[in-house]
Amino acid sequence: MSATCAVSRKAQSPLPPRPPGERDPPAKAMRRGLRRGHEEEREQLPWPGESAGGGGGEPEVEQAASLSDERRRRQPQEPRALAAAAAAAGRVEEEAEEERLEREHFRRIINAFRYYGTNMHERVNRTERQFKSLPANQQSLLPQFLPHLDKIRKCIDHNQEILQTIVNDCVHMFENKEYGEDCGISIKKIALRLKRLAEMETEVLIWYLQARDFSKVNILVPGAGLGRLAWEIAMLGYACQGNEWSLFMLFSSNFVLNRCSEINSCKLYPWIHQFSNNRRSADQIRPIYFPDVDPHSLPSGSNFSMTAGDFQEIYSECNTWDCIATCFFIDTAHNVIDYIDTIWKILKPGGIWINVGPLLYHFENLGNELSIELSYEDIKNVILQYGFHIEVEKESVLSTYTVNELSMMKYYYECVLFVVRKPE
Ligand SMILES: C[S@@+](CC[C@H](N)C(=O)[O-])C[C@H]1O[C@@H](n2cnc3c(N)ncnc32)[C@H](O)[C@@H]1O
Repeated sequence: MSATCAVSRKAQSPLPPRPPGERDPPAKAMRRGLRRGHEEEREQLPWPGESAGGGGGEPEVEQAASLSDERRRRQPQEPRALAAAAAAAGRVEEEAEEERLEREHFRRIINAFRYYGTNMHERVNRTERQFKSLPANQQSLLPQFLPHLDKIRKCIDHNQEILQTIVNDCVHMFENKEYGEDCGISIKKIALRLKRLAEMETEVLIWYLQARDFSKVNILVPGAGLGRLAWEIAMLGYACQGNEWSLFMLFSSNFVLNRCSEINSCKLYPWIHQFSNNRRSADQIRPIYFPDVDPHSLPSGSNFSMTAGDFQEIYSECNTWDCIATCFFIDTAHNVIDYIDTIWKILKPGGIWINVGPLLYHFENLGNELSIELSYEDIKNVILQYGFHIEVEKESVLSTYTVNELSMMKYYYECVLFVVRKPE
C-alpha cells in the first residue's frame, strides 16, 4: 500500500512517477510523522476550537504499549503456538491503536479549520463589546470603528469559505486512507501560509539550479510547506519531490496544486487577525490573491510529487538523491546533526545540498523537547567533518517570511545560503 500523498499534480497523471530510486515511504512512518508534526503545531499555536486534552494522543499510545508488555510478560507460561498467536494479536492491537490515533489527529486538524470562523468572530465580538463599554462621547469620536468590525466579519466569512473548500478534498487526499465524513475546515496559520505561495524567497535557492544544466536530476525538498519551491524546481525541468509532515500544509498545498488553476482566482484576508501595528484600518482588511502562477502549467512529462510524513523516517535509502534543497527547514530539527546525517546518507556521491534559511530553532522554547541549538559556525564544522565540500556560501541573504508589508512591525532574516557537495 502506498503512502505517497496524493498532493500531486493531476494534469498529466493521477500520480506522477516517482524519481528514480524512491521507495514508497512506510505508512507507519508517515502516520507517526504526521501526528508528531501536529503536536508541535499545537504547542506553537493553541487554537480555541480544540479541546485542551485534544484526545490525549501519546498517553494513550503509552497505555497501549504497557498493556502489550504485560501480555508479553505472561507468554513464557503458555505453549509456543499460543504465545505466537498472542503476539500477533498484540501487533494487530497496536496497529488498530495507530489507526485510531491517526484518525484522531486528522479530526483535530479538521476541527482547527472548522472553528476558524467561530473563534475569529468571538475575537471581533470582544473588540466590539470593549468599544461599546467606552463613554458615549468617546465612541462618537470614532464613527468608522463599528462599521470596520463589520467589514472584518465579512472577511472572516470569506476566509472560512476558502478553508471549507480546502477541507472538502481531504477525505480522499491520501491514497491509502479514507477518513470518513469528518471534513469541515479552518486554521489561522493557513491564510499566512497561502500568502507565502506568492513570495519569492525561494528564488535565492533556485538561482543555483538555474545556473547549472543538470538533466535527469532528482531533487528532494524536505519540509516543503505549501510546495512552491518544489513546484518551481519541477518547472525548471528537474524531477522533484516535496516532503511535508504537517496536515495544515498538506491540505492547503493539495488545494492549491490540484484545485486552483486560474491565476489570482482565489482571495484571502490574511491580515484580519492583526489588530496591532496597522497604519490604516483598511490595511487590516486588504485581500491577497492566489495563486500567482498557474500550478497546472508544469511542462508535460514533468515529474513532480509530494510525500507526507517525517523526512527522517521516510527517506532512509542511501545514495538516492542528486540534490536536496532545504529552505527555512534545518532549524525545525530537534537535533540538526540528525538532519545533516540523513542528508549525507541519502545524497548520491557527487550530489549537492542547497540550503537557505535562518536558525530560528523550532523547539528552543518547548521545555520538554530536545533542542540542540547550534550556531552556523558549529553547523558548518559538522558539515565539513562529514566530508561535504563547500561550493557556495553567503552568510547574509536578506529575507522575510510571511511578512505583512504594510505593518508597522516587520521581521527580516539575514539567512545563510550554502551549496555543499558530497564527494564522488
Ligand atoms: C518554516 S517552514 C518552511 C516551509 C517551506 N520550505 C517554505 O520555505 O515556505 C518548515 C516546514 O517544515 C515542516 N517540517 C518540519 N519538520 C519536518 C519533518 N521532520 N519532516 C517533514 N516536514 C517537516 C513543517 O511542517 C513546515 O511546513
